[in-house]
Amino acid sequence: MAISVWGLLLTITITVQAQPQLACESVGDGSPVCSCGSGRVSCKDADLTHVPTDIPPDTETLELSGNKITSLPAMVFDGLPLLSTLDLSDNKISSIEVGAFDGLGGSLKNLKLNNNELVSLKEGIFRNLTTLEYLYLKDNMISTLQSGVFRGLLGVFKISFDGNSIASFPADIFSDVPPLRTIELPRNRIKSLDDILPALPSNMISLDLSGNNLGNLPAGAFSGFPRLSSLHLSSCNISDLPQDVFLGLSSLAYLYLNDNDLVELRNNSFGAHRRLAIVNFSNNKIARIEEGLFSRFPRLANIALQSNQLTSLPPRVFDNLSRLREIRLEKNKLESLDDASIFKDLESIWIIYLQENNIKSLPSGIFSEANLPNLKLLTLHYNSLTVIENGTFDNLPSIQTIYLQHNPLEQVGCGMVPSKDKSASLERLTISCTCHLKPLYDCPGFDDWLGEKTICVSPIWVWRVKLKGVSRDKLVCSRAGANRTDWIALVILLLLCNLFIIA
Ligand SMILES: *[C@@H]1O[C@H](CO)[C@@H](O)[C@H](O)[C@H]1NC(C)=O
Ligand SMILES: *[C@@H]1O[C@H](CO)[C@@H](O)[C@H](O)[C@H]1NC(C)=O
Ligand SMILES: *[C@@H]1O[C@H](CO)[C@@H](O)[C@H](O)[C@H]1NC(C)=O
Ligand SMILES: *[C@@H]1O[C@H](CO)[C@@H](O)[C@H](O)[C@H]1NC(C)=O
Ligand SMILES: *[C@@H]1O[C@H](CO)[C@@H](O)[C@H](O)[C@H]1NC(C)=O
Ligand SMILES: *[C@@H]1O[C@H](CO)[C@@H](O)[C@H](O)[C@H]1NC(C)=O
Repeated sequence: MAISVWGLLLTITITVQAQPQLACESVGDGSPVCSCGSGRVSCKDADLTHVPTDIPPDTETLELSGNKITSLPAMVFDGLPLLSTLDLSDNKISSIEVGAFDGLGGSLKNLKLNNNELVSLKEGIFRNLTTLEYLYLKDNMISTLQSGVFRGLLGVFKISFDGNSIASFPADIFSDVPPLRTIELPRNRIKSLDDILPALPSNMISLDLSGNNLGNLPAGAFSGFPRLSSLHLSSCNISDLPQDVFLGLSSLAYLYLNDNDLVELRNNSFGAHRRLAIVNFSNNKIARIEEGLFSRFPRLANIALQSNQLTSLPPRVFDNLSRLREIRLEKNKLESLDDASIFKDLESIWIIYLQENNIKSLPSGIFSEANLPNLKLLTLHYNSLTVIENGTFDNLPSIQTIYLQHNPLEQVGCGMVPSKDKSASLERLTISCTCHLKPLYDCPGFDDWLGEKTICVSPIWVWRVKLKGVSRDKLVCSRAGANRTDWIALVILLLLCNLFIIA
């Protein structure tokens, strides 16, 4: 008896194993492996080892991500004339037979093969995908590609190869892919631009080469791509930009050079980039910026210079930048902002980040006499300011938040917080609450405005308490500096609070 039960179970198991898995219909008393409806079949994370059968012919989106599929045989996607998105990401696909995608000719637009185990791609696998627009091949192990591999992809705009092992492209690999505009190649093994750029169509709009060990670039490196608008060169081990390195890039709008080893920015490295809108130089070792560099780019909206070694800024560095929205200068070594009119032209600026520098004083009128009608956020915490002059933050009609904590302030006056009629949108000015704030309690309107808007964030026993809620004699003259034990104590306090809440 027992034996026959085992026998039966074994038979059932074998039957289930041998039968192809049905996508949407239920098999016997089992349930379908996918959720199906209105043109979408989703078989995510279903432990599938093969593409299931019986996918309804009207399917437009087929999600097979997160399974254990290892190979795609020829014609596996037959009979799906409307399929436009096929997601095969997060499987273990190491082999794709020529013909696997043939049935999807004329309909497929998006093909996602991210995070699989592809080492190479057979020539001809995409031969019938004439309408494909986006091809994603991120995080595979592709190293060499043959010339004809993309033949047939007559409509592809974008191919992403992030996180593969590509070092070079055969010169004619994209010659049959005229519409290609965006290529993503971060985290590959490219060492020389000469191994890659000659293969790319000259109409490229976006090129991402971040995370390749390119080293220093030659002059005119990208001059063959006059329409290039977005250029990513982050983490490329670049320490110097030669003269005219970006020559000919008159359409350049986004330039990413963050996380390199640059020590200076010189005028002559750049050309006429009249559309330049975003530059990212963050996390380099930049100690010097040549005068006039940014002013040549009238459309600049965003300058990222955080985490560098700047001790000073050249005079007039932000002149003419009337469209600038955000400047990041935090985590440098700025000691002063010598030029009191450095921000004078920034009529569109929303945010100025200046925290974690060593700024000792603010020139009189640096904000209040600039024309900053849109400034919302100003961060000055973790600096070395000892005095905030009355009226420093006046004439900022849109200001919402000012961070001043962790400065060794000794002298502040009633005019530290801009008045209600001038800056009605002010939400808070955060500060370290030490005995040096005691004079503020006698200011006119302390209870209604100054004491209401000034928020303590240090020391921790007054964390996030309005100044008017802290009694004057509780303020001690300790150093304002960030105290590690303060934070440890705070974490313990929060943990204890949680424990009590749970209990
Ligand atoms: C290739 O795609 C076309 C539609 O563009 C289709 O008619 C043809 O049958 C496909 N070829 C194969 C071998 O499936
Ligand atoms: C970066 O480039 C320099 C040459 O400019 C080279 O000596 C160094 O090994 C490179 N760094 C890395 C991490 O490969
Ligand atoms: C600039 O690069 C840094 C990394 O160094 C990144 O955190 C930041 O988001 C980037 N900013 C912009 C505007 O791209
Ligand atoms: C850098 O460019 C600015 C503006 O174009 C110019 O005023 C300045 O003299 C230039 N600096 C040098 C050293 O050429
Ligand atoms: C700012 O623009 C004016 C007029 O367009 C120009 O004369 C001046 O040289 C520019 N300033 C800088 C620093 O480029
Ligand atoms: C601010 O002004 C008041 C009186 O108007 C003055 O007593 C105080 O010293 C000033 N504070 C600073 C920091 O300039």
